Amino acid sequence: MRFSLQVLALGLGAVTTLAASSDKPPKITPASRQNEANYTAPYFPLLGFEQYAGNPIMRPDASHPWESAYLYNPSAIVMDDMVFLLYRAQDSQKTSSIGLAWSSDGYTFTRYSQPIISPTEPYETPGGCEDPRVVRVDGTFYLTYTAYDGEVARLCLATSTDLVNWKKHGPILPDFTETVYNWRDPVTYFSSNPPGWTKSGAIIDERQPDGYYYMQFGDTYLYTANSTDLINWEVSGSGKPFAPLMNVWEQALTESGPPPIKTRDGKWLKIYNGMATGGVGGYAVGQYSTGQMLIDPANSPLGPPIARLETPILQPTTATEITGQVDNVVFSEGLVQFKGKWLLYFGAGDAFLSVAQTPVQH
Ligand SMILES: *[C@@H]1O[C@H](CO)[C@@H](O)[C@H](O)[C@H]1NC(C)=O
Ligand SMILES: *[C@@H]1O[C@H](CO)[C@@H](O)[C@H](O)[C@H]1NC(C)=O
Repeated sequence: MRFSLQVLALGLGAVTTLAASSDKPPKITPASRQNEANYTAPYFPLLGFEQYAGNPIMRPDASHPWESAYLYNPSAIVMDDMVFLLYRAQDSQKTSSIGLAWSSDGYTFTRYSQPIISPTEPYETPGGCEDPRVVRVDGTFYLTYTAYDGEVARLCLATSTDLVNWKKHGPILPDFTETVYNWRDPVTYFSSNPPGWTKSGAIIDERQPDGYYYMQFGDTYLYTANSTDLINWEVSGSGKPFAPLMNVWEQALTESGPPPIKTRDGKWLKIYNGMATGGVGGYAVGQYSTGQMLIDPANSPLGPPIARLETPILQPTTATEITGQVDNVVFSEGLVQFKGKWLLYFGAGDAFLSVAQTPVQH
């Protein structure tokens, strides 16, 4: 492996960080094992997340133009006893690409020197490819991401067997447009996004007893989509929202976090993000926090959740979260079990990549 070591000199005295990068990512194949051999499914709720003291764990890298400005919103998956992150990175023009990094301790990552997904299509230019969420079924990785052309965000899908080489399948719900709930403006309280606007798809990685796969998607409400092959998706239930905006910290919007995780008693734990309108409960206007719900796709694929935490499991508390490209943001997108802990990877202030952790439940 070739490593490049980077020295960052910051304002108050010199701070040295090692940002290892490599041209040779670990070789993943359909035979590679997902999760550790002793993986233990969670119960709902999964509580006690604490910020890792060394946050943020990844920063933009000035030596790679594509990830030189901002780096955040990671999806995570454990393969062959390493944590892999697929993260959103922005260049100086704020065009997004998706990068790959790996780690054998969950905190110190080596990054692949090139993006694994970059904007190549008209619907991905100039905004780029944002907010990856990855699942693996029968040896194939299915990655949802948001393509943004500067006007319309479109939920897209790509597939791979090695995490490095991806095949793009294009926008997957081109005929649907999410409703926007405009809480700042009573006249256009509920309105339509630009035609074709869809975002943020979190796939449940197990076929349900009715023969369908499901995902929740959307960036105001959560909606449901179904598929029989994980490639072709349709919006379920005439676009009825999966869950109401319920808690005070999520009154402006809700958006999926990581793909749902099956619990020990066969339901699914879904971590999600919400934005507050402010004014109640001590949440700042526009504050993004992370919450948790328990869902039951076998019996209620169109929602609603069967349980929901009233308060967030993670809120902006540190400097990188409070002041960022966007202020007051934690945005969780990756959850893995690794070496006895649950590691929840999140974007901090739309600028850095951080992790919170809690022990595995017994
Ligand atoms: C899947 O979506 C289609 C199109 O909306 C719908 O007709 C069908 O009922 C859905 N199937 C399930 C199982 O939700
Ligand atoms: C699984 O094994 C690893 C070491 O091999 C250990 O660090 C971890 O705590 C174990 N996980 C659980 C859930 O017991």
